[in-house]
Amino acid sequence: MGINSVTTMSPGVGAKLRRMHPLPIRIMHWVNAVAMFIMIGSGWKIYNDEVIFGWLHFPEFLTIGKWAQHGLQWHFLGMWIIFFNGLAYLTYGFATGRFRRMLLPIAWRDVVATIKDSLRLKLSHDDETKYNAVQKLLYIGVLLAGVMIVLSGMAIWKPVQFSELYFLFGDFQTARLIHFFCMAAIVGFVIVHIALAILVPKTLVAMVAGGPIVSDADQSGARHMNETGNHP
Ligand code: HEM
Repeated sequence: MGINSVTTMSPGVGAKLRRMHPLPIRIMHWVNAVAMFIMIGSGWKIYNDEVIFGWLHFPEFLTIGKWAQHGLQWHFLGMWIIFFNGLAYLTYGFATGRFRRMLLPIAWRDVVATIKDSLRLKLSHDDETKYNAVQKLLYIGVLLAGVMIVLSGMAIWKPVQFSELYFLFGDFQTARLIHFFCMAAIVGFVIVHIALAILVPKTLVAMVAGGPIVSDADQSGARHMNETGNHP
């Protein structure tokens, strides 16, 4: 079915109907997933060549590239994909109001209630087309980590050309550390994210096929934990 965006008189006059995940979102999400995979694998190859923490070496079979310089080539390829795809996603998210509709507002009491619900394994049957407060928080968090990892990466890559950025981070080692911790946060997010996508497969199907048809008018607000809602 080809619905991605339709204007209708019902529900609500002039309300827009669309898939929960419109086609551009799905394309950008999966392009990002592939590019992240390249960035993390090649980043680990580069890291292994000159480690920050003596006790931490990434297993070679999890890295991308034959040697560090080759890993760097992969990293630059992934970098451009992440940069332009991320820019398109942020522009789309702000311009269409998706971020406002899907990720805001976040009420702290909803975050606490969702965490309590999940600890008690209390599963309710709310609207699967809305993200719960914890999901919203994690998605905003990973978007911020994505922005920070690109900025710190630019500072490490071209400290002279991006000297203002470079000095904002303080020095090379601080920028490199921030780059590393953003990677760790993104990897942590991705592990939980993939595990929950597997546990709640209908969210995965929705991220491929588009999901239920929703109206702009009611696709906002938080939901509490449920079988679909426990998915960051
Ligand atoms: C194989 C890897 C991945 C799988 C299987 C996956 C799966 C999914 C699914 C099923 C959803 C929809 C959640 C729902 O409706 O409840 C989603 C949304 C999302 N994912 Fe992923 N994802 C993957 C990789 C990533 C990566 C690498 C990132 C970022 C670092 C990411 C960031 C997001 C964000 C921000 C959303 C919300 C998008 C929006 O609504 O605008 N995902 N993902």
